[in-house]
Amino acid sequence: MQFIDLGAQRERIGDRLKAAIDRVIEDGRYILGPEVAEFEAKLAAYVGVKHCVACANGTDALLLPLYASGIGPGDAVFVPSFTFAATAEVVALAKAEPVFVDVDPNTYNIDIDSLEAAVAMIKAEGRLKPKAIIPVDLFGLGADYDAIMAIAERENLLVIEDAAQAIGGSVGDRMCGSFGHVGATSFYPAKPLGCYGDGGAMFTNDDALAEKLRSFAFHGKGETQYDNIHVGLNSRLDTLQAAILIEKLAILEEEMAARQAVAQRYAEGLGDVVKVAQVPAGSRSAWAQYAIETPARDALKAHLHASGIPSMIYYVKPLHRQVAYRHFPQAPGGLAVSEALPERILSLPMHPYLGADDQDRIIATIRNFVGSNSARLAAE
Ligand SMILES: Cc1ncc(COP(=O)(O)O)c(C=O)c1O
Repeated sequence: MQFIDLGAQRERIGDRLKAAIDRVIEDGRYILGPEVAEFEAKLAAYVGVKHCVACANGTDALLLPLYASGIGPGDAVFVPSFTFAATAEVVALAKAEPVFVDVDPNTYNIDIDSLEAAVAMIKAEGRLKPKAIIPVDLFGLGADYDAIMAIAERENLLVIEDAAQAIGGSVGDRMCGSFGHVGATSFYPAKPLGCYGDGGAMFTNDDALAEKLRSFAFHGKGETQYDNIHVGLNSRLDTLQAAILIEKLAILEEEMAARQAVAQRYAEGLGDVVKVAQVPAGSRSAWAQYAIETPARDALKAHLHASGIPSMIYYVKPLHRQVAYRHFPQAPGGLAVSEALPERILSLPMHPYLGADDQDRIIATIRNFVGSNSARLAAE
């Protein structure tokens, strides 16, 4: 059994992928070939934004909007602590300071009260200027953008949506990636929309920002490639990866439907024995991960492993406790949820090709474990 089965997808569309790769190799336009613009247009339409600017990876997709907005030394950028390191890493790379905010215990996304408290603290201290928020759509579930955008508008903050795990997710009638002033995503192979290497993209409805992002992703180019108006990066999506992504985007909605069915089966099979993933009404998760919580997490993980069932811990440590980030500011009142989750959370196999038999075995194995441990768990 696989945690994420990329082989099953490859079997399904392997012929189309090989033909797409062959076409690029024969055509020879390996950098910014026509497939890149075609993919950008198709993904912009899918996400529902005016501009999609592809780049080299999801980390650059977060970093480039910071550069393009002139965020740097003396600036504060509010980020959740319970996320992948890249969310805070880009802030430090831009020489600004990440300010760590706690997450909501049910959605695992940035906690609005903690965000309010962090903004108030930074303003009162006066050492840093509040400049931006990077909410993360963790595990594929969109953050609370109504509340986030209201704070951003009031405080004049840029919002960069970290939708690295969330292409295919939605909140209300809008797709993840379309929230905030600019959205960022990753095409790392294991993501809901993944390529066969590194890749990323940025989304915005702002014409001027889109042009700047394109420039910063291409050595800060002006009118021509040899006209440098900004200090930028070399951050482009390879034509080969764009050709692969066009084929994968064509089946994404079908895969999303399959992911919803897998999530539903987990919720029905496990909801009475462990805390299962919560999805607010009106939202659709892209289900990059399916996370459960239990106090006996380590023993459950070992039991699953002994039964040949893979599982993963995302994340083992909140960022504000990591050596590289522990000296940056934290929201007042502590980050209790971000600190407790790494002890309890466990991600189960989740992909569109997970068969019902395999899934029923995962569910039965967990139920069996919880049943035989219930007396001990009740005592904890
Ligand atoms: C939440 C989050 N942000 C940013 C990234 C960075 O993406 P990449 O690995 O493509 O640089 C990832 C994924 O790896 C992620 O999960």
